[in-house]
Amino acid sequence: MITQQTIEEIKNRIDIVDIIGEFVKLKKRGSNYIGLCPFHNEKTPSFTVSASKELYKCFGCGRSGNAITFLMEHDKLSFVEALKWLANRYNIEVEETETTQEQKAIIQTADSLYIINKFANDFFVNQLLNEEEGQLIALSYLQQRGFKEIIIKKFELGYNPQEKDSLTKALFTHQFNKELLQKTGLITFRNNDWVDNYRGRIIFPIHNNSGKIIGFGARVIGQADSAPKYINTPENEIYVKSKILYGLYFAKSAIGKEDECLLVEGYTDVISLHQAGVENVVASGGTSLTTEQLKLIKKHTNNLTIIYDGDLAGVKAALRGLDMALEEGLNVKLVLIPDNEDPDSYINKIGTTSFKEFIAKNKKDFIIFQLEVMLKDAGNDITKKNNAVNNIAETLSKINRAEDFTKLNEYIKQCATLLKIDEAGLNTLVSKIKKDKLQKEQNRSTNFQQQEIKEQLSNIETNENVLLLQQDEVYEKNMIRVLLEYGLNQREEQSVANYIFESLANYRFETPLYNTIYQQYQELYESGKQPDTKTFLYHTDEEIRNAIININANPYELSQRWDEKVQGLNIVNRDTSANDVELSLLYFKLRKLKKMFAENQQDLEAATSYEEQKKLMEVHKFLKEEEINITKKLGTVILK
Ligand code: CTP
Ligand code: MN
Repeated sequence: MITQQTIEEIKNRIDIVDIIGEFVKLKKRGSNYIGLCPFHNEKTPSFTVSASKELYKCFGCGRSGNAITFLMEHDKLSFVEALKWLANRYNIEVEETETTQEQKAIIQTADSLYIINKFANDFFVNQLLNEEEGQLIALSYLQQRGFKEIIIKKFELGYNPQEKDSLTKALFTHQFNKELLQKTGLITFRNNDWVDNYRGRIIFPIHNNSGKIIGFGARVIGQADSAPKYINTPENEIYVKSKILYGLYFAKSAIGKEDECLLVEGYTDVISLHQAGVENVVASGGTSLTTEQLKLIKKHTNNLTIIYDGDLAGVKAALRGLDMALEEGLNVKLVLIPDNEDPDSYINKIGTTSFKEFIAKNKKDFIIFQLEVMLKDAGNDITKKNNAVNNIAETLSKINRAEDFTKLNEYIKQCATLLKIDEAGLNTLVSKIKKDKLQKEQNRSTNFQQQEIKEQLSNIETNENVLLLQQDEVYEKNMIRVLLEYGLNQREEQSVANYIFESLANYRFETPLYNTIYQQYQELYESGKQPDTKTFLYHTDEEIRNAIININANPYELSQRWDEKVQGLNIVNRDTSANDVELSLLYFKLRKLKKMFAENQQDLEAATSYEEQKKLMEVHKFLKEEEINITKKLGTVILK
């Protein structure tokens, strides 16, 4: 870990023009620098660097960031490597290892959790393989399902006996800390007693990338009647569900070799396929895929084959979440297992060779699959077919990386043929969606444009719901922008930051990312620091860094062309900070109020007692007043 001190020093020295200038020939243009974008091929320069904002942005491919992300992307460095590169460049001595108390505590907890998990799993394995109850009840069940001892040992499966506290007792003799024990989810305190959580269950340990056990899935033996089939470890310092792919530890080398990752749903599917010699397989644990999981796969291969055993409705639902795989640049294929079988039962039924053949023969490109399903649903219905065209264009627009250009064209060709429409037409539609999105992205990340606000205001009377079209996220992001930009300014008797905190005391940020930034800002501010954009621009959390870059890669600050456009629109007051703060707050609140209205309305409908209804009506009245106030204020701000 690099010390905050060193990061500060580096931050203070960074000259983005100088750094990027090492790789790109830059020319001064107005207050900015421009050059040929190093991230895509272009003949006229649209890569812009702003020294004052410490940002770059390419108006061709849309890439943007700060000096550090530039090095990370351009030279494929990690965050820390980029920092070291800069330190070296500026002759700054890098101080390392000193971790904060908080980080130390997390690392310590994590280490202890690993130790407890390992201890528990050794206990479970011994119970399964060597104790009578385990052998009779659990091992025999696994064997009856076809699992051989060698695979049971490889995956370190185990058994937690039925007695209420056999594991608890073993853990207690080793004096592990009770709070930590509870975190592992292995035991709990119930009716004044510590008891095992996974009594009578088969244990599937879950390994991290280096083979350490981060958690467990605990399956009932046989049919799950009243109890849930699986109990899983609760989220803790080392078990983060969204980042787990079961079996990856055992699969990664095979995934690399085959250059393909098979994805199934269940623990048993993974193990069964392994036993049959298909080792490039991981499981999602029955939930829809997260971006983090896709990124994990992406580290090993670009080819993802999803083996699905659900019904068509389930498949359709799963497909919806898969667009993000395209954004990650993955080639996604899909195979449906027939006849209510799952991969585990199916490979047992037809054997390895046939299974492999089946997968190879039936895997279908997921975009094409999606289109075929939609077309089948549409039949002769013109509206539905239209929707299918739009949906597929929307999906295709997610293929956005320069290197995927050929792939996109190939898809457009295939889809046009299937849809029986003109290829050029589909191409135009996809490009338009991409362009609109880019435009929207830019609009969102810029200062809230007054033009847009005016339009929205004129819409309020005619169509109240217009504001709902914009998502919470937009308003929250804008609020963060305003906080970072003006927070330290003075406003009447107090700072803008304090004014914002006060104004928003009764409102909450719902997007976790913006909420984190808001909270951290507040904490820093209240502890006497002077947080601003730069504090977060070089934040150690990549997500936060990227959010700030996104907020600040502000086209009309960066691009002359944009400036001209803005002037063309004759936008007034665009840099009057008080106005900007006020408008942003009002719109933020208005948006939140709409939501509170809706929630209140729902509660009202569900309310059964008069007392309850009366209370909710009062809330409604209060919200209404607040709304009227805000709309009035908006009027005056705009008209000023
Ligand atoms: N799952 C879960 N909790 C449940 C049910 C399922 O976490 N109550 C997750 C598990 O990761 C499971 C996966 O969803 O592996 C798929 O569920 P399912 O197909 O029902 O389980 P299998 O692992 O296939 O178990 P089995 O073959 O033993 O029925
Ligand atoms: Mn199964």
